[in-house]
Amino acid sequence: MKTKKLVVIFLFLSFLPCSLDAMVSGPCSLCHTMHNSQNGAAVAKAITNTGWNDLGELAGPTTATPYEYLLVSSCVGCHSSTTANTIITLGSLTIPIVYNMIEPIKPLAGGNFYWVANPAYGDAYGHNVYGIVGKDSQLTEAPGRLWGCNSTCHTTLAADFPDPMYNKRGCEGCHASTAHHDDSKPWYRFVKAPHGDSYYVEGVEDSDWEYTTDLNDHNYYKGTTVLYWGVGYFPQYKTITAFCTGCHGNFHGSGPLPGQGMGDSSPWIRHPTDIALPQTGEYSAYDPVTNYSTEAPVAWVNPQNPTRAEAVVMCLSCHRAHGSPYKDLLRWDYNQMIANGGGPDTGCFTCHTTKN
Ligand code: HEC
Ligand code: HEC
Ligand code: HEC
Ligand code: HEC
Ligand code: HEC
Ligand code: HEC
Repeated sequence: MKTKKLVVIFLFLSFLPCSLDAMVSGPCSLCHTMHNSQNGAAVAKAITNTGWNDLGELAGPTTATPYEYLLVSSCVGCHSSTTANTIITLGSLTIPIVYNMIEPIKPLAGGNFYWVANPAYGDAYGHNVYGIVGKDSQLTEAPGRLWGCNSTCHTTLAADFPDPMYNKRGCEGCHASTAHHDDSKPWYRFVKAPHGDSYYVEGVEDSDWEYTTDLNDHNYYKGTTVLYWGVGYFPQYKTITAFCTGCHGNFHGSGPLPGQGMGDSSPWIRHPTDIALPQTGEYSAYDPVTNYSTEAPVAWVNPQNPTRAEAVVMCLSCHRAHGSPYKDLLRWDYNQMIANGGGPDTGCFTCHTTKN
């Protein structure tokens, strides 16, 4: 069955030559400007209020300040849209949109910054990121922060220079290096910290950022079942949880002092992550190999070869990375999770199958 399916997928893809290619394509002028000048006027678009419109044009006010790499816009601008579409298609080029100025129809895997930027929702609905929304009105640092200097992304991702360190601001606090023309990098989605070359996340990337999903059509995240404490293990395990832990350290691991971290076994003191999803008890009813849920996804010890025994609970089992329609960037409405309420097998109940 499996090989048959692969052949079908292969034939299908051979008619879509660029769909597996993670590199950008298209005319240089779409994304670069040599002098930021044309007919004597600036070409580059400002960071805020810029986005791809219905006509497939990058619309927004111009700025006389040129960008690095001669780009026509910032990270925010090129990944924003004034439409509700989360993938903008221009010929063979597809642009993943993470900030829609009107409510997105189908948010991508990381969620969307629409809700955190919309005052009807607000700060709790996403990471507050420079160019999209100001600093969080309640949080003066990453909750659970244990390490990291003061004027840095560990306290806010919404600050302008000179506050952020490593010359990384906003989006680049989490995507510290990008390689839009180079597929050979091992980084999952350019998720990389600026602290060193080996500080990146591994994983298997879905070709349309989970715009469409089914059993085998989704991201495969990296996890580990080794118990670790401290940010120094991020380069070693390269898991998505270790990445979040870089700024939210106290929410993971078994800390050296009482009350720190999550503990090392039941009874846990904070929800465990980077632990195996047990194959017994109520967890035996969730087999992500045969019944993967993008609502409560798992990571894998080996994302290239996912097995049930190596399915791992991670931060993204419950959260989106960018933002969501729910408080705390959750993947579902926590208010709908009623114990013994006869509710659906969603959210928490995907794993805690006997609690609804
Ligand atoms: C001029 C447009 C443009 C700019 C500026 C730009 N990007 Fe992109 N980015 C793209 C396109 C197009 C893709 C999709 C490439 C593909 O097909 O996989 C992409 C892909 C990505 C991805 C997903 C990579 C993957 O593996 O799927 C991330 C993350 C990303 N960009 C982050 C950034 C960050 C951070 C910046 C600023 C440093 C930035 N981008 C600047 C156009 C841009
Ligand atoms: C869809 C948008 C897009 C198109 C089209 C595009 N680029 Fe880029 N390019 C980028 C982005 C975004 C970067 C930012 C740095 C990075 O991620 O590597 C970049 C970086 C670069 C760099 C510096 C980094 C490197 O990889 O060497 C060069 C040189 C470059 N582009 C040349 C070109 C040329 C020449 C063309 C046309 C043949 C072109 N680009 C078309 C988006 C684009
Ligand atoms: C580079 C540092 C950094 C990383 C990495 C990071 N965060 Fe955050 N996070 C912050 C900061 C700063 C805040 C507080 C301000 C804000 O909400 O943006 C925050 C806030 C949050 C909040 C609360 C939002 C609110 O406003 O109530 C959640 C939930 C969260 N992060 C989850 C995650 C997850 C999950 C990951 C991993 C995918 C992650 N974070 C990675 C810096 C980071
Ligand atoms: C708190 C860390 C964090 C910040 C800040 C952040 N990203 Fe991401 N981004 C991630 C992670 C983690 C993923 C992978 C999400 C997944 O696969 O579930 C991701 C995925 C992406 C993707 C692929 C599409 C998707 O939804 O999977 C793009 C494009 C992207 N980011 C661009 C940006 C841009 C542009 C910004 C700034 C406006 C930004 N990111 C800010 C952590 C972050
Ligand atoms: C991806 C699967 C998964 C999801 C989703 C999930 N959990 Fe868990 N949860 C676990 C696992 C695995 C454990 C640890 C079980 C063990 O120790 O054997 C756990 C532990 C717990 C514990 C502590 C139990 C103890 O023995 O100390 C509580 C309470 C809990 N979860 C509540 C929730 C709530 C509430 C939600 C939704 C917000 C949720 N969980 C979502 C897998 C999940
Ligand atoms: C089992 C689901 C689940 C997992 C796994 C999970 N979280 Fe949460 N997270 C929640 C819920 C639910 C909340 C709402 C507040 C609460 O119940 O404590 C929350 C709140 C947060 C907050 C906001 C705290 C504040 O003070 O506003 C941050 C930050 C956060 N989580 C980060 C993380 C990080 C980092 C990881 C991985 C190390 C993680 N979460 C793993 C469910 C989860």
